Amino acid sequence: MVVDIRGLVDAKQGTVDPRIYHDEEIYQQELKNVFARCWLFLAHDSQIPNPGDYVTTYMGEDPVLVVRKRDGSVGVFMNQCRHRGMRLCRADAGSAKSFSCSYHGWTYDLSGNLVGVPSEDDAYRNEINKAEWGAVKVPQVDNYRGFIFGTWDPSAPPLLDYIGDFRFYFDAFADRTEAGTELIGGAHRWVFPANWKFAAEQFCSDMYHAPISHASAVLALTPDDQDVDEEVFPMDGTKGRQFSSELGHGTGFFVESGDVLANIVGQKPADWFQGGNPEAIGRLGDARAERMRGAHATLFPNFSFLPGINTLRIWHPKGPNEMEVWAWTLVDKNAPADVREAQRIGTGRTFSVAGLFEQDDGENWSEIQRVLRGHIARRSSFNVQMGLGHEWDDDPDFPGKVNRVYCEMAARGFYKRWADMASGMSWDELMASVRKAVEVSG
Ligand code: FES
Ligand SMILES: [Fe+2]
Repeated sequence: MVVDIRGLVDAKQGTVDPRIYHDEEIYQQELKNVFARCWLFLAHDSQIPNPGDYVTTYMGEDPVLVVRKRDGSVGVFMNQCRHRGMRLCRADAGSAKSFSCSYHGWTYDLSGNLVGVPSEDDAYRNEINKAEWGAVKVPQVDNYRGFIFGTWDPSAPPLLDYIGDFRFYFDAFADRTEAGTELIGGAHRWVFPANWKFAAEQFCSDMYHAPISHASAVLALTPDDQDVDEEVFPMDGTKGRQFSSELGHGTGFFVESGDVLANIVGQKPADWFQGGNPEAIGRLGDARAERMRGAHATLFPNFSFLPGINTLRIWHPKGPNEMEVWAWTLVDKNAPADVREAQRIGTGRTFSVAGLFEQDDGENWSEIQRVLRGHIARRSSFNVQMGLGHEWDDDPDFPGKVNRVYCEMAARGFYKRWADMASGMSWDELMASVRKAVEVSG
């Protein structure tokens, strides 16, 4: 049965039907129409610097191998043997000359081509056409400033068009220096009993929860001899901005506040991120290099990051009621050693499997999911109306569709894009609707 998904999200009225968070049929449509069609973040260049280096990851629930090939380009193919479907590579990461299946030994090269079949002459009588039985390859792979993305959909627009007007905000995180960025310290990974959209939407759009959900974390991080700084998360929403892209991406941040970054992740990373890196100011300008504070961001659908705090993560879907979070620490390559170490410790303490803020967030998402086990709980829609009708507060420093920081404009954008994609709207239609919306606003 195909569910009419468009009827479940009303971005104009600001309502969402909770079926989108728990329904198995909707989840299957989501895997097919969202995760098998969107550009998804796969890996960072710094994870696979040399030929033969690889990581294994997921696109939706499909396991893939991301491999640095001998010519320096990146190949991405299904982590699935074509003989009987065994997972080809069972390591998280490593370096290899080829990949041999542990079931019957079929062997694939760094591009996923089948190059070896045990007993090819005897058992197969030299009748197998190896060229036909390579691993299934991801047709579009691209790299934006060291971030490697792929999409299963040959008709998906180029990656740059997909990122679109979110680029300005992504660059505040990804383009601070000529040398670029790198991941340090490995990944934190954990399985979590909630639908992935709660997390992706929150990182896209929700500063509103921060002063409430994270009040105790802010208190815990304030030294005993100091008063809690009320301006860490100021309640006045005009002190920050939210940006929503018609493509479903979103971000929010303060432009006037107490030193939210110093409070959360420590003074050293805060100083470095907010003006301590002269190169970043030159590249990004004052607004992005110094004024953006405590930012949250999601690149649709499931890639999120917190500029300054510098965690980045993928919310891997694992069924409608579960996700697996993979979280890393990102640093500027040219950051001094003490800043890097402070950043690594800071993300671990705040946004990681044991992080104070992570636990606050996770508690909300898992409780919502538990409540949604109830029959009556699933009947009434959720309210996504904050700031509805006030979408066009332009700010010369921050281009695109912006609003006050406490707003659900970006959540409406996220769910609208999700509903359009999940219901099977073609890329041509989608990009035309994005262009039209931008024209109307411009
Ligand atoms: S399943 Fe891989 S060789 Fe048989
Ligand atoms: Fe949070």
